[in-house]
Amino acid sequence: MVKIGNIELEDFPLLLAPMEDVSDPPFRALCKQQGADMVYTEFISSEGLIRDAAKSVKKLDIFKEERPVGIQIFGANMDSMLQTIDIVSQAKPDFIDINYGCPVKKVVSKGAGAGILQDIDKMVSLTEAMVKRTNLPITVKTRLGWDASSIHIVEVAERLQDVGVQAIAIHGRTRKQMYKGEADWKPIAEVKNNQRMYIPIFGNGDVNTPEKAVEMRDEYGLDGAMIGRASIGNPWFFKQVKHFIKTGEHLAPISIADRVEMARKHLDMSIQWKDSEIVGVMEMRRHYGNYFKGIPHFKEYRLKLVTSDKLQDVYDVLEEIQQKFG
Ligand SMILES: Cc1cc2nc3c(=O)[nH]c(=O)nc-3n(C[C@H](O)[C@H](O)[C@H](O)COP(=O)(O)O)c2cc1C
Repeated sequence: MVKIGNIELEDFPLLLAPMEDVSDPPFRALCKQQGADMVYTEFISSEGLIRDAAKSVKKLDIFKEERPVGIQIFGANMDSMLQTIDIVSQAKPDFIDINYGCPVKKVVSKGAGAGILQDIDKMVSLTEAMVKRTNLPITVKTRLGWDASSIHIVEVAERLQDVGVQAIAIHGRTRKQMYKGEADWKPIAEVKNNQRMYIPIFGNGDVNTPEKAVEMRDEYGLDGAMIGRASIGNPWFFKQVKHFIKTGEHLAPISIADRVEMARKHLDMSIQWKDSEIVGVMEMRRHYGNYFKGIPHFKEYRLKLVTSDKLQDVYDVLEEIQQKFG
């Protein structure tokens, strides 16, 4: 069993990674239904929340069917982050995750996300203050280091544990790598193998087949796998990995009928959550390419899906896809 505060997860849990514009309540619920053991919100700006920016506040929505769920926050200013902890705690997540891994310039340039990897003392003191501010478990998601010459993740993880962090998810790339190259899980295994570590260490980066999840468990000895891109348009991935772990066999590929049904369910849930047909229809557009990836001669249908403004029109295209490819 893997424990984070009072959260109890089965052995080698599969975590849905925080993903901007992807890990919203509908998608999190779908992944949970398909076997994800724990889910995260997308990152939420501390400064945005404090200003009560409506968009940031909406991101705090969590629902009982997706628990355990963590709210992920990012920022670099001590006062703002502490205020953010207070605001976020009221939304009653199961834990709060701090993003020390986002590589994008506009975040990093303010010293937030992976930017803080250039100032480990600040990272530790900020984290310590946040841990003291709340009774909820605080977890961290980070990268190996700023660049190849500054991979100090073993010491960083130890220091985070010492100030009370209850789990760490590590993406096996540096900030400099952004998303390029292959994720390196070896330094993550070094964190796990450090005799002083007792909190769960989750591996992240490029878990895109069931075999890779097994490798992360058996060859790297990590406590669980955090899965991002492989789940986009593919919430079944969690179930597929679990089945493979249990039986050593692969589940049958997902049928077109199942893909159509899942996309439709996702669309309906988005409309319901946003309480707006048009917003749900628009937001769903970014997902179709992934739901129907790999289908030959699909372009015409994808185009229709992403240009239809009316719900019934989208339903009709989905029906057409089912007829044509199902
Ligand atoms: C579309 C997208 C949005 C992301 N947004 C976030 C985010 O909000 N917070 C975060 O910590 N990581 C974010 N990430 C990084 C993922 O959580 C993860 O670390 C990365 O994709 C590597 O894992 P993967 O190979 O399983 O995708 C994002 C990644 C993608 C592809």
